[in-house]
Amino acid sequence: MTDEILNIVDKRTNASYDVPLFKDAIRTADLKKIKTDPDDFGVMGYDPAFLNTASCQSSITFIDGDKGILRYRGYPIEQLAEKCSFLEVAYLVLFGELPTEEQLKKFVTNITYHTMLHETTKKFLEGFRYDAHPMGMFISTVAALSTMYPESRHVHDASNRELQIYRLIGKVPTIAAYTYRHGLGFPYVYPDNDLTYTENFMSMLWKMAEPKYHPNPVMARALDILFILHADHEQNCSTNVMRSVGSSQADPFVSAAAAAAALSGPLHGGANEEVLRMLDEIGTKDRIPAYIESVKSGRGKLMGFGHRVYKNYDPRARIIKWAADQVFQVTGRNPKLEIALELERIALEDEYFIKRKLYPNVDFYSGIMYQAMGFKPEMFTVLFAIPRTVGWLAQWQEMLQDPEQKITRPRQIYTGHEQRDVAPMDRRGVVVAAG
Ligand code: CMC
Repeated sequence: MTDEILNIVDKRTNASYDVPLFKDAIRTADLKKIKTDPDDFGVMGYDPAFLNTASCQSSITFIDGDKGILRYRGYPIEQLAEKCSFLEVAYLVLFGELPTEEQLKKFVTNITYHTMLHETTKKFLEGFRYDAHPMGMFISTVAALSTMYPESRHVHDASNRELQIYRLIGKVPTIAAYTYRHGLGFPYVYPDNDLTYTENFMSMLWKMAEPKYHPNPVMARALDILFILHADHEQNCSTNVMRSVGSSQADPFVSAAAAAAALSGPLHGGANEEVLRMLDEIGTKDRIPAYIESVKSGRGKLMGFGHRVYKNYDPRARIIKWAADQVFQVTGRNPKLEIALELERIALEDEYFIKRKLYPNVDFYSGIMYQAMGFKPEMFTVLFAIPRTVGWLAQWQEMLQDPEQKITRPRQIYTGHEQRDVAPMDRRGVVVAAG
């Protein structure tokens, strides 16, 4: 409601200020008028890690963290996971509406047309060491695409932007698959455009000498659902990076590479890899209580638990558990599942986790499913990055079209020295007594 006003009284001066509320928020720039004298800079908002600061308006994803609700463009994630393909959801996230049959056909053709990598990009990938981390390879190769498509820097040209969006969504599975095969020493497999987005990814991962790869439909659907669940998640760390880098009008390839770098950290998308390491470290169910005690005493975190926004069960974790069960019917049950289920049970009954509202997040069960499908933990975050590319691009496009957005540039509260003079070399390091 635009006519609501927040009244602030500055006790330093007894002056009173009316600050208009905008969608239940104040514009922190309005605080600048609160001054002790005309030369005062005015009051700033101080919010390290953006705990309570909205950086944009967005119509893409809605999360109610207390109720455990996630919607893309208004559609509940549960319905999208049940009824749609990943590319239908990608279209929805990018363009705001679910596609008609005709629109979807065109969109699929556009994406499929861009799945190939230039041979020099393939060679670039070949240059990595045999044991290079797939996420490092992924980030670098996405950035390298910027050199291939220099026109992508014309970020205010809508049709140019659309072309780069198709390119990037088309190419990320190819890059991801090549990083996987590189680690195994297998030759790269070219895209097969008869297959769906997810099936083609599976073909590029696992095709060997057979002339045509036939993906297992249960595994393909499970992977497609995982892609749907990871497509966007409003202003998370990597999306904030995409918007921030993109706000300088950098091209979408380097912006997405920066976002992928943010995703790779263990507190963000890298958590799925860490969950598997943690389950390995725990080893057997009888060691869970001791592990939980060590977490509570401050020795590390329970990976795959907790979320900045969800203070309830992450709705994605529930769907992943279901998808993982489907995969286990094909692959056999991952023995780590027993440990994970027991860890979840014990943690959810523990006062420490209850009090802090720590529940399993998207990363808790995804790795267990990916491992059953044959992926090494190093690949897990790359599997997160493929679908999240859609969200990054949708948010990047929204940012560029928002007339209120400018280059991102937070302020700081300076805590360093006042002005001082440069001492000659022989006087440096000498502590000069104050006064
Ligand atoms: N295990 C144990 N304690 C935890 C955990 C955890 N996983 N997460 C938070 N806490 C504690 C934290 O120590 C703090 O306790 P206290 O109040 O006593 O200091 C309290 O809960 C609040 O945590 P916070 O660190 O202030 O919360 P945050 O919003 O800054 O961090 C988080 C959110 C996701 C980074 C954090 O929960 C975490 O590190 N989780 C483990 C890593 C993980 O699973 N990340 C994936 C997130 S979901 C996918 C994605 O978006 O990438």
